[in-house]
Amino acid sequence: MTVHSRILGTGSYLPPRVVSNAELTELLAKDGIETSDEWIFSRSGIAARHYADASVQASDLAVEAARRALEAAHVAANDIDLIVVATSTPDMVFPSTACIIQHKLGIDNQCAAFDVQAVCSGFAYAFTLADNAIKLGQARRVLVIGTEVFSRILDFKDRTTCVLFGDGAGAVVLGESSAEGVLATRLHADGRHVGILCVPGNVHSGVISGSAFLHMDGPAVFKLAVNVLDRVAREALAAAQMTSGDIDWLIPHQANIRIMQGTCKKLGLPLAKMVVTVDRHGNTSAASIPLALDEAVRDGRIVPGQVVMMEGVGGGFTWGALLVRM
Ligand SMILES: CC(C)(COP(=O)(O)OP(=O)(O)OC[C@H]1O[C@@H](n2cnc3c(N)ncnc32)[C@H](O)[C@@H]1OP(=O)(O)O)[C@@H](O)C(=O)NCCC(=O)NCCS
Repeated sequence: MTVHSRILGTGSYLPPRVVSNAELTELLAKDGIETSDEWIFSRSGIAARHYADASVQASDLAVEAARRALEAAHVAANDIDLIVVATSTPDMVFPSTACIIQHKLGIDNQCAAFDVQAVCSGFAYAFTLADNAIKLGQARRVLVIGTEVFSRILDFKDRTTCVLFGDGAGAVVLGESSAEGVLATRLHADGRHVGILCVPGNVHSGVISGSAFLHMDGPAVFKLAVNVLDRVAREALAAAQMTSGDIDWLIPHQANIRIMQGTCKKLGLPLAKMVVTVDRHGNTSAASIPLALDEAVRDGRIVPGQVVMMEGVGGGFTWGALLVRM
């Protein structure tokens, strides 16, 4: 019998502190940096984002999101047999945030746990690995998490980047199933573009060598993103022998409303079929897709049986698509 995998439950968590464009504008003005709600909203579609308190780590946000996903899936924490975490803002250099989350969730069954690093495509990568593990019979119930405290790596003296990102976490429980859930996954990377979106630093002899802040060539990222997102969505559709007309909901990585709308239009989908959270969350990197998915599942827009296309794109350059039936 063919083994399929299916999303059994979703969960998400946002730290309570909401920072509006107006508050951020005031904050930056203290350092003589000029911006405005009008500039931020018109260029990105972002009106607000959430920031975690200094004492809160990526694993803390992840644990809250994971608990909600486990509850929705009716799966006990100790029945998880693999944890895959996507993050670019891990608690520590090592061990993995996945191991820290395993401990914080009280999972003591010694299941495998590891992080993947694909920046804003991280959830697409983590989900694909989880799906493959289930289909290979190596795991039956996998916790897939995207979690970020991106506010930690923002240079608040660089107005071209610091206004775009926020903190949060999203999770899904992916499980073995007799019915087909995950229809197709596709991943890509092109390392020639490492420099256009990066945190070009590392720990060396007890200090940070290079920069610990996010650097981005916004226009270059924009151009690449729209093209690769369209291509990879079509690859996933072709692999599942479907067309864009079969998509009920599009959940692109929530980077910028203009990139998202461009992707939606290229696929020939009405904008009403796209789940949008970027206005309230900003870009939460690896967390953005599972955060948006959970919101649309919980508010009743996404219902069982519907086809959802999720798409990630980010530093590396990396990109990927996940086509699932809920
Ligand atoms: C970053 C981004 C919003 C910039 O928009 P843009 O229309 O390309 O704007 P530009 O970079 O051309 O800058 C236009 C002007 O606005 C200014 N500007 C930049 N940030 C600003 C801010 N926060 N407030 C006010 N002005 C700002 C620039 O300095 C520039 O001024 P100049 O013309 O006097 O030099 C856009 O390129 C983008 O969305 N890129 C993709 C980013 C992304 O999604 N990254 C994550 C992918 S995972």
